[in-house]
Amino acid sequence: MTISVFVGTSVDGFIARPNGDLDFLPAGGGEPHGYDEFMASIDALVIGRNTFETVLKFPAWPYGDKRVVVLSSRPIDLSAARGAVVEQMAGPPAEIASKLAASGAHNLYVDGGITIQRFLRAGLVQRLIITRVPVLIGDGIPLFGPLTRDLRLRHLATQHYPSGLVKTEYHVVL
Ligand SMILES: NC(=O)c1ccc[n+]([C@@H]2O[C@H](COP(=O)([O-])OP(=O)(O)OC[C@H]3O[C@@H](n4cnc5c(N)ncnc54)[C@H](OP(=O)(O)O)[C@@H]3O)[C@@H](O)[C@H]2O)c1
Repeated sequence: MTISVFVGTSVDGFIARPNGDLDFLPAGGGEPHGYDEFMASIDALVIGRNTFETVLKFPAWPYGDKRVVVLSSRPIDLSAARGAVVEQMAGPPAEIASKLAASGAHNLYVDGGITIQRFLRAGLVQRLIITRVPVLIGDGIPLFGPLTRDLRLRHLATQHYPSGLVKTEYHVVL
């Protein structure tokens, strides 16, 4: 199984403002930087409850008919995501990954700050694709958080785009 992160951040490392706003990210995802190709390569998304609640406010469900697993320890009304292929799971990241592997999902996209941090802490993320947007926002929801040990990264590639996006791909040395 391969577990990947594909995320946009401010240069100071935030994925959203403190209230969850994403207004500092380029509208419509910005100039093409590989998101569609990445999405086509994954079997399922695993998102945290807060990310689920954010995307429900978008004008349209952003994940098409891709399988989406929403993580929460509390009941969630999944019917709010009309037409989506969505289910709920909870528990240690390793158990979630095993369940998904057993059900045929081998390429996972993990998203949401807390969710990414939990999968990283569990040593389950292999690939980090981070696109920095040229802005400092000073405060917000961080991409990274505490770890119980260093996670060494191997740099694979960095691409920059005319609008100022800088996309870097790392592999986690496990
Ligand atoms: N810039 C970007 O590319 C990007 C990407 C994704 C998200 N975002 C933004 O980031 C914000 C959300 O990030 P976030 O850090 O607040 O949180 P998040 O990861 O989206 O959601 C966190 C919540 O998910 C649940 N959860 C996570 N792991 C779990 C597990 N293993 N088992 C059970 N429940 C689990 C918990 O909910 P319960 O408390 O209900 O148990 C937890 O409080 C939103 O504003 C979103 O728009 C930005």
